[in-house]
Amino acid sequence: MIEPHGGTLVNRLDTEYDFSMIEHEIELDLYALSDLELIAIGAYSPITGFLGQKDYQCVLNEMRLYSGHIWSIPITLPVSEDKASSLNEGEKVKLVHKGTVYGILMVEEKYHPNKQLEAEKVYQTTDLAHPGVKRLWERPDIYLAGPITLVTRPTKKEFIEYYHDPEETRLAFKELGWKTIVGFQTRNPVHRAHEYIQKSALEIVDGLLLNPLVGETKADDIPATIRMESYKVLLENYYPKERVLLVVFPAAMRYAGPREAIFHAMVRKNYGCTHFIVGRDHAGVGNYYGTYDSQLIFNNFNKEELGITLLFFEHSFFCKKCGNMASTKTCPHSSRDRVILSGTKVREMLRNGETPPPEFSRPEVASVLIQGLKMTLQKR
Ligand code: ADX
Repeated sequence: MIEPHGGTLVNRLDTEYDFSMIEHEIELDLYALSDLELIAIGAYSPITGFLGQKDYQCVLNEMRLYSGHIWSIPITLPVSEDKASSLNEGEKVKLVHKGTVYGILMVEEKYHPNKQLEAEKVYQTTDLAHPGVKRLWERPDIYLAGPITLVTRPTKKEFIEYYHDPEETRLAFKELGWKTIVGFQTRNPVHRAHEYIQKSALEIVDGLLLNPLVGETKADDIPATIRMESYKVLLENYYPKERVLLVVFPAAMRYAGPREAIFHAMVRKNYGCTHFIVGRDHAGVGNYYGTYDSQLIFNNFNKEELGITLLFFEHSFFCKKCGNMASTKTCPHSSRDRVILSGTKVREMLRNGETPPPEFSRPEVASVLIQGLKMTLQKR
C-alpha cells in the first residue's frame, strides 16, 4: 500500500470530545468547514490544522510546508479583526456552522496574510474576476492557526453512501486486491473525453477511484447532486463494476489550475491512489492557465518526493475520421473532424434542454443532466 503524504495518515476525529467548558466560538464558512473535515480524516496529511505563518509563507513561496513536504495550496482559517482580537493565543475555540459545533481549534497563532502575494502565487493572477481570487478577498483578513479536532461530521446526507475516508478507501483497495489505483478528480458532468482518459488509465492499473469534488463550486458549475447522478448512470452502463469505486471528495474547488493539480494529487495519494490523472487545463477556469500548465508544474519535484505517479493526458475528443476517441497525441486529423465543445457551451445546451452530440456525451448521461437541471430551475 502506498504511504500517505508525510508517512502517517492523520486522524483528528473525536466525536466524544467534551467542549462544554470552551467559551469562544468562530462561525465557519463552507470552505473552512470542508477543510476542517478533510484535515481531520487525513485527506490533507501531514497537515493537522489550519496553517501557521511559517507554513503559509513556505507554501506560497516554495510549494512546500515548513517541514519540506510538498504542499501547494494554503489551508487557512480567516476571521475578522474583531473576532481575532477577542481570542488569545493558547486558547481553545469552538468551530461552528449554523449553530452546530463541528470542531475545536487550539489557537496557536493569529496573523495577517499577504493576500496580494497569495493571489499571485496560488492563482497566478490578482484579477478579481477569477473565482478563487474573488473568494480570497471576500474572506476576512486575519488567519487563525493551530491543530484542530473534528467533533461532528459535516457529511452531506444526499451522498452519505459515497463518503469514504482515506482509511476506508485504503482498506477497500486492499480487500478488492487492487495494487495500483488511479485517482480521477472532477468537478464537471462526465463526458466522453473523461471516460476515454479514465479507461486508458484503467488499461494499465488495477482500479479506478472516481472521486468527484462535491464541495463548493462556482455558481455556474453543474450542482454536485446532478453530477453524481451522471456518474452513477455512466458506471451502471459502461464500466466494469469490480474495477471502479465511486467516492465523493468533499473539498471546495479553488480553480487554482497548476497549484490545485499538485494539491489534488497529494490528497489522492492519501486516499491510497498510486496514480493520478491530470488532463487538459486541470482545475482551470477562464484563460488564466496554459492548457498543459497543470502538468508542467510537476517538473518542479522529483518522483520520489511526489510519491504518486502522474498520468498526463493531452486534449481528448471524438474524431470523425478516426471514428474513435483520440487525443492531440494520437489523431492526425484536423480540428474540423473533431467533436469539441467548451464546458460553457455544453452547460448552455443542457440548460436549454438540448442534447449534446453522442460523440461528446453518452445519451444516458445527457438525459440525466437535462432532467436534473430542469428540476433545479423549477425549484427556483
Ligand atoms: S477539473 O476542474 O476537475 O479539472 P474536469 O472535471 O472537467 O475539471 O476535469 C477532470 C479531469 O479531466 C482533469 O484532469 C482534466 O484535465 C481532464 N479533462 C477534462 N476534459 C478533458 C479533455 N477533453 N481532454 C483531456 N483531459 C480532460
